[in-house]
Amino acid sequence: MRDLTITLPGRVRPRRLRRTGAIRELAAETRISPAQFVLPHFVLPVDRAEEPVPSMPGVSLMGVETLLGQVEADLALGIRSVLLFGHPAKGAKSPGGEAAADTHGAVQRAVSRLKAAFGDSLVVMTDVCLCAYTDHGHCGLIEGGDVDNDSSLRPLVEAALSHARAGADVVAPSDMMDGRVAAIRDALDAEGLGNVAILSYTAKYASAYYGPFRDAADSAPAHGDRQSYQMDCRNALEAIREAELDESEGADLLMVKPALAYLDVIAAVRAATTLPLAAYNVSGEYAAVKAAAARGWLDEARVVRENLMGIRRAGADLIITYHCRDALREKWL
Ligand code: PBG
Ligand code: ZN
Repeated sequence: MRDLTITLPGRVRPRRLRRTGAIRELAAETRISPAQFVLPHFVLPVDRAEEPVPSMPGVSLMGVETLLGQVEADLALGIRSVLLFGHPAKGAKSPGGEAAADTHGAVQRAVSRLKAAFGDSLVVMTDVCLCAYTDHGHCGLIEGGDVDNDSSLRPLVEAALSHARAGADVVAPSDMMDGRVAAIRDALDAEGLGNVAILSYTAKYASAYYGPFRDAADSAPAHGDRQSYQMDCRNALEAIREAELDESEGADLLMVKPALAYLDVIAAVRAATTLPLAAYNVSGEYAAVKAAAARGWLDEARVVRENLMGIRRAGADLIITYHCRDALREKWL
């Protein structure tokens, strides 16, 4: 018999650092701290309500007071940042989306209640957009059949100001209109709200992964799609251009969204800026994992850990994810 043993020269052995759990822990390159998580919430303009979103198991639309209880429990798990999306009152959608800036709107009420209850131990971020408040469901105003950029800036600024006046720490414009970061920054500063930070949805792609969210936020466009303002999935250099613009317009934090199909974009934007970078692990990414896990087709704990580590490894500093409560409570990381 021929001896099939192969003799290696030894010396360099990557497996030494994989031998025990403690060694792997010691040598791990990527870690996630609970402080890096942001949990999104959908707020209804009522005090108490809890309506599960069918396509997002574990996520419910909540009334303002219901949200307070949930956030208190999440704080105990270490989740210190929330991102709020609102619903207008019934019948309040309009062509101009004015309800987005309603002083007594769901988001505005939730912000002031959260800040009153938890103060600066909680970071309150608000999504700034018009799509949940316009009757046509687009993120800007329609003029001549198109979503018009410049006339959309004023209502977006008004929405951001209303959130900031209610006490938001961070406003996060997700509309993808050109120039909205500069417009919001100038307005905040002019109103004495210079401490309010802007998290810009810098590279937000026109994505089918937003499907479940649009059920939750009731924000699907009534006609057409968002391709004339959100980015094309074939483009990555353009994300860097957007990042440079947002930085020059005064953004404090940048975001890439969705996360998992855009890990290269996260890495590229991370390399192109020194600003903190967030990645949004969106509703469809969450729903896909939940659906497969419910059928026993995927191991949820391990898949979520792998997805979140991948997003961090790609270069995201913050992760906005619906998974974070489960991940922390069940110690999946
Ligand atoms: C609306 C908005 C969307 C999301 C965040 N803000 C959907 C969209 O642009 O249609 C998606 C979030 C998610 O899917 O979890 N401007
Ligand atoms: Zn929108």
